[in-house]
Amino acid sequence: MQMTKVGDNALDQLRDALRQAALPCDDVGEPGRQFYRFEADGKWVAFGGLEGAAPDMLLRSVVVSDARRGEGLGNAVLLALEQCAASQGALRLHLLTQGAAGFFSANGYERFDRQTAPAAISQTVQFKQLCPASASYLRKTLGV
Ligand SMILES: CC(C)(COP(=O)(O)OP(=O)(O)OC[C@H]1O[C@@H](n2cnc3c(N)ncnc32)[C@H](O)[C@@H]1OP(=O)(O)O)[C@@H](O)C(=O)NCCC(=O)NCCS
Repeated sequence: MQMTKVGDNALDQLRDALRQAALPCDDVGEPGRQFYRFEADGKWVAFGGLEGAAPDMLLRSVVVSDARRGEGLGNAVLLALEQCAASQGALRLHLLTQGAAGFFSANGYERFDRQTAPAAISQTVQFKQLCPASASYLRKTLGV
């Protein structure tokens, strides 16, 4: 699986993938976000993104294509994004999810009260507007 940064020319493909998975996509073209495309045999199999800056970054937009779920790609994408965040100095990753809390818990993320998120995270568009208040908030300390 090859990982490449999503440039402006691939933003529409990213939006389509997120829309199909019912994930927020309205703000992907705004500054301060970085998205990655994962491909195999020339076709995209997953996307994932990071938002903000170290030490606390938002992990977002993790989606594996319908046809390739359940093969371990999600785990691989998560690991790649964590390494990418750590290489930028991130100490913690934060996320909101509605349907995949179990997936993230199995990968070392812990559920916390949304009110405990640091300001850099609670001020993101996802926290303020895009994700419904019913979404679970999870976070992970990297490198422990
Ligand atoms: C969540 C998602 C990324 C997982 O990708 P995947 O490639 O199917 O995951 P993997 O094959 O690597 O599965 C890893 C483990 O997580 C489990 N898992 C996968 N999706 C899960 C979910 N939604 N809830 C709970 N556990 C889940 C798998 O059963 C597997 O467990 P195992 O190792 O004990 O067999 C994928 O289902 C997806 O794209 N969902 C829609 C978008 C989404 O909700 N993204 C998260 C919010 S940003």
